[in-house]
Amino acid sequence: MKVAITAASGQLGSQVVEALLALIPSTNIVGLARTTAKAKHLGIEIRPGDYNEKGLLEESLRSVDAVLLVSGMDAPERRITQHRNVIEAARSAGVRKIVYTSVQGAEHDTAFSPIVQSNRQTEEDVRYSGLAWSIGRNGIYIEPDVEYLESYKKAGGITNCAADGRCGYTTRSELAYAYARMLTEDKHNGRTYNLHGAAITQYELADYLNSTFGTDLTYTPMTVEEYRADRVAELGEFMGTVITGIYQGIRDGEADNPSHYLEAAGREHVSWPAFFAGLRQEKATS
Ligand SMILES: NC(=O)c1ccc[n+]([C@@H]2O[C@H](COP(=O)([O-])OP(=O)(O)OC[C@H]3O[C@@H](n4cnc5c(N)ncnc54)[C@H](OP(=O)(O)O)[C@@H]3O)[C@@H](O)[C@H]2O)c1
Repeated sequence: MKVAITAASGQLGSQVVEALLALIPSTNIVGLARTTAKAKHLGIEIRPGDYNEKGLLEESLRSVDAVLLVSGMDAPERRITQHRNVIEAARSAGVRKIVYTSVQGAEHDTAFSPIVQSNRQTEEDVRYSGLAWSIGRNGIYIEPDVEYLESYKKAGGITNCAADGRCGYTTRSELAYAYARMLTEDKHNGRTYNLHGAAITQYELADYLNSTFGTDLTYTPMTVEEYRADRVAELGEFMGTVITGIYQGIRDGEADNPSHYLEAAGREHVSWPAFFAGLRQEKATS
């Protein structure tokens, strides 16, 4: 069985490749990448895979049995078309199964909702593709909060508009493990899974960061309007507004959903105490 991973040059795509290498021979894995040079180090066959190039996608998907479609980064409308290019190319190339990395979040009334809606449209396109399918709705990555530590320290803490909302965070490596299973096991066909670990508040996130890195961060909630002004000043109108929408959704409980990680991965999601203990150990040995 040959499995292809799109966006193999990206952080999630490359980690799915790594997770697959533990399950099937490297000769059965193909990486598709827009920038092929960025995926050469993965030690598998790499083929061209720009979501805008349907013909090229079809050629690259020949001889492939199952493909992982990693959600793109373009504006919502363009994304839908790009994802359709991958789905149609897969069908034309004779691919048997498609797995899609979708997202959790508020479907209405936030600035993130158009992106969530575009993912829901691709979910529908995948379900009606005529191929066997499986969909994961990813939780929010926790790694960016760790990478942002120095900025949090400079600011004296974490501020956003999530308030007391709980967020079902995840990590790319946990997602990668689940997707490797979903691609290689037929029991996931026709299933849509929420993929995340235990839901935590921003107060708990600050506590985990403090106990891991010896910081003294506090969490201070802001209104949606205050946070939007703050993010737009740093990240610009588009990204600042989208990020605000994500935290507004967390505040409104839209990121606090039942998790199906165990069913998808066949094992529990890493617990946050274990994840942060791992980071503490890395820090101690670096
Ligand atoms: N759950 C979350 O918290 C969260 C957060 C951020 C993003 N996301 C979503 O998750 C996806 C994967 O995340 P990540 O961490 O792997 O992001 P990443 O490291 O930034 O990688 C993005 C990947 O998308 C590829 N890509 C962009 N436009 C493309 C196109 N037109 N055709 C083919 N490939 C294209 C990039 O290729 P190049 O190497 O050529 O640039 C890269 O491989 C993102 O694309 C986004 O949809 C989720």
